[in-house]
Formats: sequence, structure tokens, C-alpha cells
Amino acid sequence: MSNEGVNTRRRVLVGASLVVGGVGSVAALTPFVSSWNPSAKAKAAGAPVKADVSKLEPGQQMIVEWRGKPVWIVRRSAEALAHLATLDDSLADPASVKSKQPSYVPSTAARALRDEYIVMIGICTHLGCSPTYRPEVAPVDLGEDWNGGFYCPCHGSTFDLSGRVFKSKPAPTNLEIPPHFYESDSVILIGEDGGNA
Ligand code: FES
Repeated sequence: MSNEGVNTRRRVLVGASLVVGGVGSVAALTPFVSSWNPSAKAKAAGAPVKADVSKLEPGQQMIVEWRGKPVWIVRRSAEALAHLATLDDSLADPASVKSKQPSYVPSTAARALRDEYIVMIGICTHLGCSPTYRPEVAPVDLGEDWNGGFYCPCHGSTFDLSGRVFKSKPAPTNLEIPPHFYESDSVILIGEDGGNA
């Protein structure tokens, strides 16, 4: 073998051992990374989230994400709250007896720790679609009696502004209310009971 041939072979061998070393380092790191990632993600996924409602005007909705789910907060006007109190006869579960909500949230028409703000998980209790916020009064597609609420486009369930489902709709129960409490006058912490449970 010529000198040039020997040198080329050495370079190839040195290069090969570096690549093997590189693969070994990656392999050693992988178990650490894969065992660290899920727990960090799980921690983040389960963590409570804050919602600052100080800029929410009456009639407006805001959405935050908690545990991968949309959580809706809607500020209701005094007129809207007064109307909610008249709807019992047209609702499937007006006092939320069959529906999921923390025991410390009153089972009144407002379904809220503070009547003005409703906090709900924005997932239909029928088959899990996300309903649409329809705050208008008497829109053509929802009829003259519609006074604001939520409409599920998948199979037509309708909910009032407290997330209570109307009678004879596919959704069996009202929209779920997650654990939450007021951390301050305008900040709601979603995902914890704040000692209320
Ligand atoms: S998923 Fe909402 S009505 Fe069926």
C-alpha cells in the first residue's frame, strides 16, 4: 500500500470512531431527555391558569386554556342575568343537579361565584364539539326567543348564558364548570378550589 493509501485509511478510521463516539453520546442522552419531557409537560398541563377579567366588557367572552381544554369566561349584564332567572321551564337541568360543577359554585341560574362572570369548559356534553358563543338577541337562525347563549353546530344543542342546556337537545347535561376561585378582584385562578371545596 502506498503512503497516500495508508493515510487515507487512517483518516477513514479516525472519522469512523468519531461518528461512533457521537452516536454513543446521543444514545446516552436520549433516555434522560425522554424521561424528563413527559413529567415537565404533565406538570405544565395540570397547572392552574390565571384569567385577568379586568378588561372584559359586559357581553364579551374570553378563552383560556387549562389542561388542553378551552375555558370560557363570559361577563353578563344585569339584563342577561335577569333573563336567566326566567328560563327554568325550558331547560333540561335548570338547577344543575345532573351536571358537573364544584359544590361551592351555587346551583342558581347564574351558576357563578360572582354572578357577573360565568366560568365554563367550552366542550359540548354530547359528543365533545366546541359550541359557538352567540350573544345576539333573536338572530334569524336561532329564532325570536333566543336571548344569547351558546350553539353547538355538530348536532344543534343550545345552551343559555350559564351553559345550561335547553330541553330536547342531544346534550344530556349543562356545560361543565371547572374548579376555580378569585385570587383578587379581577383575577380568576382556574384549576384550583382555593380552599372552597
Ligand atoms: S356534540 Fe354538541 S350537539 Fe352533539
